[in-house]
Amino acid sequence: MKKTLILLALLILPLHELVADEGMWLPSLISQRIEDMQKNGFRLTAEDVYSINQASLKDAVVLFGSGCTGEIVSDEGLLLTNHHCGYGYIQKHSSVEHDYLKDGFWAMSRNEELPNPGLTVSILQRMEDVTEAVLKGYKPGMSEEKREEIVKKNSEALIEEVGKEGQSLRVRVEPLYYGNQYFLFVFKVYRDVRLVGAPPSSIGKFGGDTDNWMWPRHTGDFSIFRIYAGKDNEPADYSEDNVPYQSKKSFRISRSGVKPGDFTFVYGCPGSTKEYVTSEDVSYVGYVSDPQKIALRTKRLDIQKKYMSQSQAVRIQYSSKYASVSNAWKKWQGESKGIIRMNTVESKKAYEARFREWAKGTRYDGLVDRLNSLYAIRNPYFLANEYYTETVRAIEILQFAAATKERLTNGKPLTEATEAFFKDYYQPIDEDTFTAMLGEFDEQVPEEFKPAYFKEQISAYGSIEAWKDDLFRKSIFTDKAKVLGLTSADLDAVSSDPAIKLGEAFNDLFSKDVRSKLTDINRQINLAYRDYMKGQMEFEPEKTFYPDANLTLRIAYGHVQGYSPADGVEYFPVSTLKGIIEKDDPEIFDYNIPQALRDIYAEGGHEAQPVCFLATNHTSGGNSGSPVINADGDLIGINFDRVWEGTMSDIVFDPAFCRNISLDIRYLLFIIEHIGHASYLFDEMDFN
Ligand code: ARG
Ligand code: ASP
Repeated sequence: MKKTLILLALLILPLHELVADEGMWLPSLISQRIEDMQKNGFRLTAEDVYSINQASLKDAVVLFGSGCTGEIVSDEGLLLTNHHCGYGYIQKHSSVEHDYLKDGFWAMSRNEELPNPGLTVSILQRMEDVTEAVLKGYKPGMSEEKREEIVKKNSEALIEEVGKEGQSLRVRVEPLYYGNQYFLFVFKVYRDVRLVGAPPSSIGKFGGDTDNWMWPRHTGDFSIFRIYAGKDNEPADYSEDNVPYQSKKSFRISRSGVKPGDFTFVYGCPGSTKEYVTSEDVSYVGYVSDPQKIALRTKRLDIQKKYMSQSQAVRIQYSSKYASVSNAWKKWQGESKGIIRMNTVESKKAYEARFREWAKGTRYDGLVDRLNSLYAIRNPYFLANEYYTETVRAIEILQFAAATKERLTNGKPLTEATEAFFKDYYQPIDEDTFTAMLGEFDEQVPEEFKPAYFKEQISAYGSIEAWKDDLFRKSIFTDKAKVLGLTSADLDAVSSDPAIKLGEAFNDLFSKDVRSKLTDINRQINLAYRDYMKGQMEFEPEKTFYPDANLTLRIAYGHVQGYSPADGVEYFPVSTLKGIIEKDDPEIFDYNIPQALRDIYAEGGHEAQPVCFLATNHTSGGNSGSPVINADGDLIGINFDRVWEGTMSDIVFDPAFCRNISLDIRYLLFIIEHIGHASYLFDEMDFN
């Protein structure tokens, strides 16, 4: 009897209700989701989450820099984000004498906090649907150029108008659902943001690239900043007289921890997703683009690894480059595998067949076929361009040569950039990369995308290898002293350097011809998507469509949960300090923890200290640093990654595999206390 009832309940529930964890929702439309959130355990109201009339959680969430999220945790502007989000700033303050990356940094008082020129924190003031205002004057039947013109003019007028409301506002008008709607976002931008604390990288980046995108995870991925404002609490340029920013709202920190099944809510700024594209697009990503880019990057990483393992100095030079090449490399593997495992192309095709049937005789008739034929035109150009980016632009000397020529042309100084380039340059890696990558380009890319100069050189030298030897011998860009001695009088000689000539031959073909063709096709594709998006919404009127991510504030809710990565394996969703000690190995760079952490562990009693946890929230790149909130609205963690088996969530969400990875906030407290000895920071926090 009971069984039948459950079965019945399952049948009655619409499909999208079963995957309640999917979705990145607009805060201003939270009233449409709040009931479902509450059904899942959330105890706050819609107004508590987003309000323009009263203080709400949104006032404590910030866009950190231009690609991460952060959260305010005190009424004196104390701000938390990831270590990998603060990394560049921590690095800028580091030198041989003060290596804050290696040793960590802890301000012991306000006047030890370090300013970060260029770093901003943007706080959303409000968002609103401005579709009507943006499309004012547009009439159906007008040309697309005319529509674009109207949208641009109206948006600019809106931005100017709203910008007058106050200083330091950044106003954006963004299309949602491929331009079926337009939203206005008003941010206040704070530009005095100081570094307060960061753990040593051996904690903040523990596990490095080995553990990146993986579970079990033990990374203490946090850093601490403070927002400063003028005496009027408004944004101000850095000044000693500035005072800590008093926000309308800050997060209370929960010390109660998490357990499987607990409600979780990630409030942050995911960058870019495409959930509503056709089977052709998914097929291209999963079966063509990802696998080919993975293969190219595997070759590059192998070359770097070979030389890094032979020399400590090279390892240091290339660790950050290696990290950035491998980050997407690993993500694409999960994305492609996920698309294949989920049969997404087939299920999208089946969906498209039903859509086609439904669309007969409507304005959406023929739309899917139109999109598919546009992809057929786009894909060869797109793929060639991806090859160009992944091969030619991976050759460091070509990039450096072009940048140097530009500096010379514009009369900019060369010293700093040249020193920085050679500090982290190891020529044998670049030479091997040159041969391997240009070889791949030559083999894989159709003739029409090969610059004449490229073909001539290969046939003149007889092989890429021989060409490489000659180019690296002749180019002045391998010689630091020569580059430092260049002046604008040398521009002619620079222009005939082989590294410049090669770079420019490619640049001419790709940045001009190929890109302009791509821009044109992409415009047509986007236009077709505007209709297809609208069509999908009419085709499935009962389904709630969340807009694709665009680096604006979103809400994703789910719960703490492990997953099964493979048959016979089940992951528990919580990791502890015990796991760090198990991984600890002074011989392995990624796993070599500070002695202080070993000592604390040896004292006993910290085995169960929580470190990270998994949940089912739908997140993406940009969600790094996002507050993870419990059912009471209190801070339980800081989001920093996803598991690689679920990275296809930017295209298709699989509740069985998609998990976000968060730092347990209690690990942050533990590190502040035991490693940073900066418990004074707790005085300004509010705990529950
Ligand atoms: N996977 C994280 C996110 O995409 C980045 C973590 C940075 N750490 C690293 N080892 N690369 O961006
Ligand atoms: N690590 C990513 C970030 O830096 C988050 C993700 O892709 O899940 O934003």
